[in-house]
Amino acid sequence: MLVSAKEMLDKAREGKYSVGQFNINNLEWTKAVLQTAQENNSPVILGVSEGAGKYMGGYKTVVGMVNGMLEELGITVPVALHLDHGSYEGALACIDAGFSSVMFDGSHYDIDENIAKTSELVKICDSKGISIEAEVGSIGGEEDGVVGTGEVADPQECKAIADLGVTMLAAGIGNIHGQYPDNWAGLDFDVLAKIKELTGNMPLVLHGGTGISEEMIKKAISLGVSKINVNTECQWAFAEATRKYIEEGKDKVGKGFDPRKILAPGTEAIKVTVKEKMELFGSVNKA
Ligand code: 13P
Repeated sequence: MLVSAKEMLDKAREGKYSVGQFNINNLEWTKAVLQTAQENNSPVILGVSEGAGKYMGGYKTVVGMVNGMLEELGITVPVALHLDHGSYEGALACIDAGFSSVMFDGSHYDIDENIAKTSELVKICDSKGISIEAEVGSIGGEEDGVVGTGEVADPQECKAIADLGVTMLAAGIGNIHGQYPDNWAGLDFDVLAKIKELTGNMPLVLHGGTGISEEMIKKAISLGVSKINVNTECQWAFAEATRKYIEEGKDKVGKGFDPRKILAPGTEAIKVTVKEKMELFGSVNKA
């Protein structure tokens, strides 16, 4: 059964580790992430962007697929199904469809509107036992059409949003989605420490987990980051393994054209990436 992300994140914050959010794009992705979580006895959050939800045939399709896999693959570790960077309407649709967690990304609104919309959603989520992530200070880069400028969040605004009773808070600290540029200045740990100081026990979320050094990840966790989002790195791993299969002409040998064969190396590559991240984040055996 899907669970809210609250308990797993509170435990992560207490235990000084992070739970990975891995974005899913299709059946293979979902299966790879769930099986890796089970094999490593790790809690996990499946992230679904609005674009990926649409691609997979709608939020209800995603809920049906994930619930089916939990049961039929015997997944017993805690799993939250989470809307990633949702709009207000998207969050409502996911709550209705059976997601156990949503992110409302109001970072592009002014702070008053972000507060107003976030607090309405907090009430709805609370009444249904669903966890909710809010965002302050947009994450840079582009993800599924959502473009952020990479602001560093204002710690006072973070406190105002945290005080609304959200489950977790994403705050921009110089992180961006996708590839980091060579001249990237790195995460702003001074701001992270200040946000932590003002928000107390709030589990903090680090977006743009692809390409952040091990050292920075560990430091971020030590400063209260309890959830780290990874998307692009799984996509790179999948694409590279799939390209290799085709370039080696394996689809032309025997029944190598069978989609189950073509997609197998990419699926395995996602599993390897997810396992590495779970080890780095410290969530192995924390289910
Ligand atoms: P990356 O694609 O950079 O790993 O970021 C993922 C993310 O933050 C999803 O919200």
